[in-house]
Amino acid sequence: MENKVSKPVSLSVVSMSNLMGTSYANIFGKVHGGIILKKADEIAYVCACKHAGFQCVTASVDRVDFYHSINIGDVVTFEASVNLVGRSSLEIGVKVTAENLLKGERVHTNTCYFTMVALDSNGKPTEVPRLELENDNDLRRNVEAQYRRQQRLDQRFQKNTNKE
Ligand SMILES: CC(C)(COP(=O)(O)OP(=O)(O)OC[C@H]1O[C@@H](n2cnc3c(N)ncnc32)[C@H](O)[C@@H]1OP(=O)(O)O)[C@@H](O)C(=O)NCCC(=O)NCCS
Repeated sequence: MENKVSKPVSLSVVSMSNLMGTSYANIFGKVHGGIILKKADEIAYVCACKHAGFQCVTASVDRVDFYHSINIGDVVTFEASVNLVGRSSLEIGVKVTAENLLKGERVHTNTCYFTMVALDSNGKPTEVPRLELENDNDLRRNVEAQYRRQQRLDQRFQKNTNKE
């Protein structure tokens, strides 16, 4: 049966900024990509739990491209919102930007899409509230997310078929 409860996108929008200190450096003196992915996963988790009202786990992360390297001393901002919900899964979009505080320049370094799955107290996937789209941006993201969801389903189907 379809879940009648719904929540607006704006209710679970999350934003977080971090100063990239020297402990985040890779061997080239730039910010380590793994740090960015870890923080993106954390904010996706927060966003998903806020919408779902349940604990969520990461089921998958789509391909991630890094458009620019990030310098130590930059402030990196992560912005997350729910793009689409299925029955128990949610696609969370995370936009990452890096700001050079002295120059006042801000660049978009990457956008990643996480599929999170809500789990009940027995650890089983459970139904999440429907998503209320509030503006044209929400609608655009939702339409694009439907396409990605279908691609993920097709890929998983293909993978399972190849196993047989
Ligand atoms: C994610 C997980 C709960 C899915 O369990 P499952 O038994 O395959 O569940 P189902 O087949 O009932 O699928 C549940 C939902 O997850 C989605 N899903 C499952 N695997 C997925 C994947 N690899 N990518 C995207 N979505 C996935 C399904 O499409 C379904 O979505 P819907 O309910 O919105 O239609 C399970 O695989 C798991 O616990 N994985 C480990 C998660 C984890 O530890 N993450 C941290 C990684 S370090």
